[in-house]
Amino acid sequence: MAIEHPATRPMNPRFSSGPCAKIPTFSLDLLADAPLGRSHRAGVGKAKLKAAIEGTREILNIPADYRIGIVPASDTGAVEMAIWSMLGARPATMVAWESFGAGWVTDVVKQLKIEATVKTADYGQIVDMAAVDYDTDVVFTWNGTTSGVRMPNGDAIPTDRAGLTICDATSAAFAQDLPWDKLDVTTFSWQKVLGGEAAHGIIVLSPRAVERLESYTPAWPLPKIFRLTKGGKLIEGIFVGETINTPSMLAVEDYLVALDWARSVGGLNGLMARADANAQAIWDFCAANDWIANLAQDDATRSNTSVCLKFTDARITDGATFAKAVAKRLEAEGVALDIGAYRDAPAGLRIWCGGTVETSDIEALLPWLDWAFHAEIAALSQAA
Ligand SMILES: Cc1ncc(COP(=O)(O)O)c(C=O)c1O
Repeated sequence: MAIEHPATRPMNPRFSSGPCAKIPTFSLDLLADAPLGRSHRAGVGKAKLKAAIEGTREILNIPADYRIGIVPASDTGAVEMAIWSMLGARPATMVAWESFGAGWVTDVVKQLKIEATVKTADYGQIVDMAAVDYDTDVVFTWNGTTSGVRMPNGDAIPTDRAGLTICDATSAAFAQDLPWDKLDVTTFSWQKVLGGEAAHGIIVLSPRAVERLESYTPAWPLPKIFRLTKGGKLIEGIFVGETINTPSMLAVEDYLVALDWARSVGGLNGLMARADANAQAIWDFCAANDWIANLAQDDATRSNTSVCLKFTDARITDGATFAKAVAKRLEAEGVALDIGAYRDAPAGLRIWCGGTVETSDIEALLPWLDWAFHAEIAALSQAA
């Protein structure tokens, strides 16, 4: 029996976890004010970069005494810059519960060879953050993009810690409430929750992070692209828009447009509500269907951005092949692009739910998920 196609389709089939869907109002015409072909050090360029920094502070409620810098090489650049510039002053604790966090562990332990306690949890689980020693420098990922598991809050992190907390928040910023008093270094990239363009990262430094930068010089050389200090002093210009090297003014304009859109939906609260509604629609779908489940084992740690799903039907013998076939079917129908699980993660699907995705599109996708699952199960029994 042929399985009926659902009647409606998502208006926008883009559910990739990065680069993420652009703002729903996006059109290239919105970028017309980009000062292209001009120096980024000219007044107009500097003003745009400063507006990007101040808009970030405004929407994310970043305290006035925290520095915000636009840095090269996306979130990876921002994390590497922090790790290479600040670690080594005291022992470190490296915390990972998915692939990107695991990458930072490798860098610190194998490349920098820093004395570190490594704490990991399997995909779907989270490390007990209350059992971490915050007198060490702690590096962790707020939202594990590849496992769909996030920090529920920052309660486990003491305010009077002696070490620094270095947090990769790239799939959390603009969708989850980040407790700035618990975070000394926070990083993210434009290509994630606001659907911006890749290439640039943002680094947010607490006063204690600046103190570390000004009082500690690592034993290893630092390339220019990572250097935040000169002569033992913070390069303040970086934090007002005098970037280390040349930024893309088109990407800057695109970010400014996304920040404007964020204001129009109610700022951070509006963005969080949109992500929550998107994720909730999928959680409800999982609750109503016994063949699919959230990879996150504890509801308190379920991500509202990178929602990772696993198939739980006993008839499936090769999970990876099955999940790929489902994702391929959905792509072929033009209803969902880029929703296969990350290459290192357990087999399944990953549906981006950040605020640039419309809840109506998630709702339109879910019957298609049901359709593709049943079509693939039928194909399995036909092959048997
Ligand atoms: C948690 C996390 N960290 C780092 C990265 C790398 O980000 P980028 O490619 O923007 O440097 C990603 C990308 O998906 C991510 O999800």
